[in-house]
Amino acid sequence: MNSSPNFPLPVNEPEVHFGAGTEAAAQLRQALNTRDVVEIPTVIGGKRYFSNNVVEVRAPHDHSRLLARIHRPTEAQIGEAIANAKSVSRDWAALPHASRATVLHRAADIIATRQRMRINAATVLGQSKTIDQAEPDAACELIDFLRFNSYNAQRVYAEQPMSVATAVNRTDWRPLEGFVYAVSPFNFTAIGGNLTTAPAIMGNTVLWKPSEKSALANWIFYEALEEAGLPAGVINFVPGEAELTTRVVMDSTDLAGIHFTGSSAVFQSLWKGVASKVDAFRTIPRLVGETGGKDFVLAHPSAHPAELAIALIRGAFEYQGQKCSAASRAYIPRSLWPAVREQMVERLAQLKVGDPADLGNTFMGAVISQASHAKLTAVLNAAKDDSGVTVVTGGKTWSEPGFFVAPTVLEVSDPKHALMTEELFGPVLSVFVYADDAWPDTLALIDSTSPYALTGSIFCTDRFALREAEAALVNAAGNLYLNDKPTGAMIGQQPFGGGRASGTNDKAGSYLNLLRWTSPRVVKETY
Ligand code: SER
Repeated sequence: MNSSPNFPLPVNEPEVHFGAGTEAAAQLRQALNTRDVVEIPTVIGGKRYFSNNVVEVRAPHDHSRLLARIHRPTEAQIGEAIANAKSVSRDWAALPHASRATVLHRAADIIATRQRMRINAATVLGQSKTIDQAEPDAACELIDFLRFNSYNAQRVYAEQPMSVATAVNRTDWRPLEGFVYAVSPFNFTAIGGNLTTAPAIMGNTVLWKPSEKSALANWIFYEALEEAGLPAGVINFVPGEAELTTRVVMDSTDLAGIHFTGSSAVFQSLWKGVASKVDAFRTIPRLVGETGGKDFVLAHPSAHPAELAIALIRGAFEYQGQKCSAASRAYIPRSLWPAVREQMVERLAQLKVGDPADLGNTFMGAVISQASHAKLTAVLNAAKDDSGVTVVTGGKTWSEPGFFVAPTVLEVSDPKHALMTEELFGPVLSVFVYADDAWPDTLALIDSTSPYALTGSIFCTDRFALREAEAALVNAAGNLYLNDKPTGAMIGQQPFGGGRASGTNDKAGSYLNLLRWTSPRVVKETY
C-alpha cells in the first residue's frame, strides 16, 4: 500500500507538429480518412457488452459522418459494474504502488506511440477539434496525467508520521471504502483520463461514465489501459444515459466518491442528491468537481494592444470557446479599445471556421451539439436586438454541414449584463470598455460580477498596478495568468481548478487532488 518505486519526476510530453509535408501529417490524415464505424461497448469486469440501446456518434461539423455507435448499458448492468468494482477493490488496493503505476506508464507509452494518431483523429472528428488543439489534449495532457498522477502518488505515500523510542507510528494510505463514480466531459479527452486514474492510482476502483460526445476518444484510451494490463473491474467503462446511471450509482450504499468535470448545475444536483441521503452511505462520499467559468481578461492602460488582441482571440475562440477556462468577459480601458478592436476584427476575418480535419487551414470547428448551437443562436439573435449591445464582429450561426458559430465579439454597455455573467460555452466574447481612471472600480466589478472563479488574466506592464490587481482579485480565479491568455494549463506546471461556483478547487494534475482519494489509517505500535 505504501511502497515507493521511485519513478522519476516526468517531463511534459512534447507536442508532435503536423505541418504540411510532415510524416506526422500524413499519418494523421490516414487516421482521419478511416471510414470504420466503431462499436463502443460497455465494459464491466473486463467483459464487453453490446446492446440494442445504441446512440450514434456523428462529427459535429459534418452531420453525414457517422463515427461510432455507443452500446448503452441496462440498469442491471450498471448495478453489475458497481458489484465488479467492489469485488476487485481489496486486490487492487493491496497491489504495491509500483504495480498500479506501471499500468499507467504503459498506457501512457501506448498513447504516445501506437495510438497517438488514432486518438487525435477521434478527437478531431468526434469533438471537432483542430489538430493544434487535439494534440495538446488527447496526446500530451492525457499522457501527462498518467505519468504525473503516478509520480504524485509517491509524494503522498512518502508522507509518514514521526516515530519515537517507545512507539512506531505509520500512516497506511488506504483508498476510500467503496467505489468512485467518474463523470467526464466532452471538451477534453484528457480529463476522462484524469478523473479515472487519479482515484485508481490511489487504490480505488471506478465506474466511469464518459460523455457521449467524447466517447470515441475515451474508448481508445480505455483500450490502451486494458492493453497496459489494467485488471478487470478496476475501471468499468459505462457509457450510460446520465440520469439513469447517476440514479443507480446514488442507490448504492458503497458510493465513496464522485470525480466530476462538467456544468455547475449538474455538479450541484449531484451534491444535493448525495446530501439528501447522506446517512445511507457507508462512508460520506467525497465530492470533487471542476465545473463552469465566466473567465475574465482585464487589461490595464499600460498593456500592449497587439499582445492583448492575440491573447483574446486565442483565449476566447480556440476550440470554439468550449473550454471551462475560455476568456468570455473582457475589461478593456477606453484608451486601448480602438486598437484592440481593430486588430481583433482584422485577424478574425482571416481565420477559417469549418472542417477541423482540413489540417493547417481551419482555426475553429463546430460547436459540440444541436442544443449548444440552438442556445448560442438564440443568445446572438437577442444580442442583435439589444440596444445595449454592439456586435463588433461575428454574430452568425449556420447548421449545414455542421453546428457552426462564427467567432463573435460583443461590446456590452452594462457591465452586469447577462452576457458578462452567464457561461455560454461557445465562441462569444463580451467586452466592457471602462474609463481609464476607473481601474480600482473595475477590479471590484470583476470580483463581484460573476458567481464563477475559475481562470482569469491580467494584462499590465506596470508592476505596482499588477500587484494591486492580483490582491484585489485574490478569490476571483483558481488559476490566474499575468500577461498571458487564461487557457492551456500544463500538468505539473499550473495545477488546475477554481473556487466559488467553479468547483471544489482540488487541482487536477497535482498531489492535492490525489489526497481526496485516500482515507488514511494511522497505526501506533507500542514497544
Ligand atoms: N485545463 C484546461 C485549460 O487550462 C481546461 O480544462 O485550458
